[in-house]
Amino acid sequence: MKDLKSSINLNKLPEHIAIIMDGNGRWAKQFGRIRIFGHQNGVKAVRETTEAAAELGVKYLTLYAFSTENWGRPEAEVNALMTLLVSTIRKEIKTLMDNNIRLTAIGDIEKLPSKCHHELLDAIDKTKGNTRMTLVLALNYSARWEMVKAAKELAEKAKLGNLDPEMIDDEVFSNALSTKGIPDPELMIRTSGEARISNFLLWQIAYAELYFTETLWPDFRKEHLYQAIIDFQSRERRFGKTSEQLAS
Ligand code: IPE
Ligand code: IPE
Ligand code: MG
Repeated sequence: MKDLKSSINLNKLPEHIAIIMDGNGRWAKQFGRIRIFGHQNGVKAVRETTEAAAELGVKYLTLYAFSTENWGRPEAEVNALMTLLVSTIRKEIKTLMDNNIRLTAIGDIEKLPSKCHHELLDAIDKTKGNTRMTLVLALNYSARWEMVKAAKELAEKAKLGNLDPEMIDDEVFSNALSTKGIPDPELMIRTSGEARISNFLLWQIAYAELYFTETLWPDFRKEHLYQAIIDFQSRERRFGKTSEQLAS
């Protein structure tokens, strides 16, 4: 297991890794348990992955924890997820402080239950001075929500005469998104064998390397993250150019 970690080229680390944490429900089902049991057991994977990323020197880790579409799940599951969120954030503040990790969030967090919202704001505030890594929680997030919001804000500015539509380019648009100031993820991981994006960071993953693993999220450990990074490092990122151009 230690071999995996030492196979990583620390000079070629992705600066930002984004993860679609999926498969909690199926994990619980294996044991004949309810879906919530799977979510509870996903917390350890969050802690391990966060620690592993910080230890390696990854600068940003974004975790998709709750999508705008997830409100459509049975009420008991949604409530349990929100409760778990509050207790996890409260418990993990110490880990974040010990590891010098800053917490931040993307998504429509004001629409979370007020207890969740406040717990989150408190953790964001307490960890705001930390510098080793930024952990971004995507909560009540969807990429289309974010892009529509950005389009509205830019249109509003233009209407007021504060923005020339001709000036809108990639950078202006990026800066209107909730990920403003965060570099685009170079590596996106999805667990549980599903090969889709489910409305996550659509703009930001334009050139991300996608990595899909059958591992269910509650089983995800440091070694799984190492594996994904090693795979990432074996790829040639061409950005539209040819292999020959990259070599010269
Ligand atoms: C991911 O696991 C966690 C959330 C979406 C909140 P799921 O709950 O989607 O688990 P599966 O995909 O049904 O197994
Ligand atoms: C995506 O997982 C959302 C999160 C991981 C929070 P889902 O399980 O909700 O996605 P679909 O429904 O399978 O696409
Ligand atoms: Mg799922």
